[in-house]
Amino acid sequence: MTAAAARARRRLPVIAIDGPAGAGKTSTAREVARRLNFLHLDTGAMYRALALKVLRAGCPLDDAQAIAEIARRTRVSLRFDSDRPRVLLDGRDVTGELRSTEVTRAVTPVCEVPQVRERMVELQRRQGKAGGVVVEGRDIGTVVFPDAELKIFLTAGLEARARRRLQEIREAGDQADLEEVKRDLAQRDRRDEQREHSPLRRAEDAVEIDTSSLAFEEQVEEIIRRYREHAV
Ligand code: DC
Repeated sequence: MTAAAARARRRLPVIAIDGPAGAGKTSTAREVARRLNFLHLDTGAMYRALALKVLRAGCPLDDAQAIAEIARRTRVSLRFDSDRPRVLLDGRDVTGELRSTEVTRAVTPVCEVPQVRERMVELQRRQGKAGGVVVEGRDIGTVVFPDAELKIFLTAGLEARARRRLQEIREAGDQADLEEVKRDLAQRDRRDEQREHSPLRRAEDAVEIDTSSLAFEEQVEEIIRRYREHAV
């Protein structure tokens, strides 16, 4: 990039990491951000926070209009003043409540509502506008930051993703079996890929990294190497 182009851009670089559930996006994005001294924007956590509000409001998950109305009146933001980013829902820290099975099930229909996506994209762009961020999600390279300096599409086979997810569930003290987790993931993949608005797909200029047989350190290194090669 020329100096003039960099000045015109007026922000630090953005690294977009998209991919299906369980590909290792969150842990990878967090570590890449830590090493580059960037912020880590977990956009899935923002959708989860909104789903939590919808659940708390007792709103039926098939009532798109009511969900859209809740989204319009909701502020979701990330706060970075401690070692782990905190998710604020209307100013209150809900970080610890976002990974329950209930929220995970509710977020799928909630994130399909077009007004929800519009609102979240607006909030995400606002949070990332200064750059110096690793933004992870499903539509970051295609919709939220289509001009990101580096776009990564992180994938892994269903079996590898299900095993990782199962381990997370067990570490959180919950029970599940591999077949059930696989079914859930396959179903989420289908809905993420087929939804009408901002479906999960690889941006044309994204680098695909299959993490099925990579060690964590290798996938982090690979992204940092690509960043240094292409984005600085
Ligand atoms: O990455 P995650 O599992 O925390 O994401 C939660 C849900 O939000 C998931 O069902 C996909 C959806 N999502 C999305 O539609 N767009 C994003 N940019 C991020 C997440």
